[in-house]
Amino acid sequence: MHTLLLVDDDADVLATLTRSFRKGYKTLSASGGQAAIDILNAESVDLIICDQRMPNVGGVEVLTHAFHIQPQAVRILLTGYTDVESLLSCVNDAHIYKYITKPWIPDDLHFTVVRALESLDLQRQLDEARTQLEAAYQETVVMLCLAAEGKDQDTASHLYRVQHYTQALAIAVGVDEKEATHMGLMSMLHDIGKLATPDAILKKPGKLTDEEWIVMREHPLAGVRILGTNPFYEMAREISAGHHENFDGTGYPNKLVGENIPLSARIVKLADVFDALTTKRPYKEPWTMTEALDNIELHSSGMFDPKLVAAFKELFVQGTLSDIRKTYV
Ligand SMILES: [Fe+2]
Ligand SMILES: [Fe+2]
Repeated sequence: MHTLLLVDDDADVLATLTRSFRKGYKTLSASGGQAAIDILNAESVDLIICDQRMPNVGGVEVLTHAFHIQPQAVRILLTGYTDVESLLSCVNDAHIYKYITKPWIPDDLHFTVVRALESLDLQRQLDEARTQLEAAYQETVVMLCLAAEGKDQDTASHLYRVQHYTQALAIAVGVDEKEATHMGLMSMLHDIGKLATPDAILKKPGKLTDEEWIVMREHPLAGVRILGTNPFYEMAREISAGHHENFDGTGYPNKLVGENIPLSARIVKLADVFDALTTKRPYKEPWTMTEALDNIELHSSGMFDPKLVAAFKELFVQGTLSDIRKTYV
């Protein structure tokens, strides 16, 4: 059942409103602006019908407040008079759904409420469907990565750590949170191209021959092919293609230099190498984070963007990297 908040300082009007929505709705009523704001702060409502002219706190103020704290609630303003100025502030500040003049025709008001709540329900269903779709594609990315991981020596927790190191570093260098979250998810696909690398090379216990290295170095572009052309995976393609490029131009496959390497790929490269250094692999014991960062700074500086290395060290000092490490063991 929908909840309506009815607001008017005129007791007769408030009683009329309450009576006309008695059936089929839960109604809350307020005899003034402040009382209405108190209700909005305490309860969730679906629709507000509010008088414009009230002492102390007026209708536009109530609806503007509602817009900020319960933006999904439909806002209808009732008014005994109209002037352009208040009409403008209703639209611009309170983002109202309808402006209805007093005295109103009961059927019209009823019809307006029914239509508004129908579109509110539809919007909620759409939001729900979008949330489910988002969860589904995120899971698809993870499933694909986990399937690919069986072929490689990387573990699922490596992928989750790279995801969160990537996300944290992106935020630290000013990428907005939504984009950083997306970058984290897409980072999990960095080695998806290894699906195309023969097992004999991927799982070879000893050193690779020159010919085998040539095949191994095909995985960034094989990843781009696997990731197709859908715009949603654009960043994943960037990351796959660029995560073995070096900042000084000595990497592969395109020997890109500096900021010609997309930011996402520069970030994931650092996260990926740092995680490889700080975890146990079949061929080596784990390094401490300090050892790994010192090594990155002293011996491998040509590989990485120095600005990113500095920001990553800062995340280490703040304890963010250790927190991620502890969460995804
Ligand atoms: Fe790789
Ligand atoms: Fe990796």
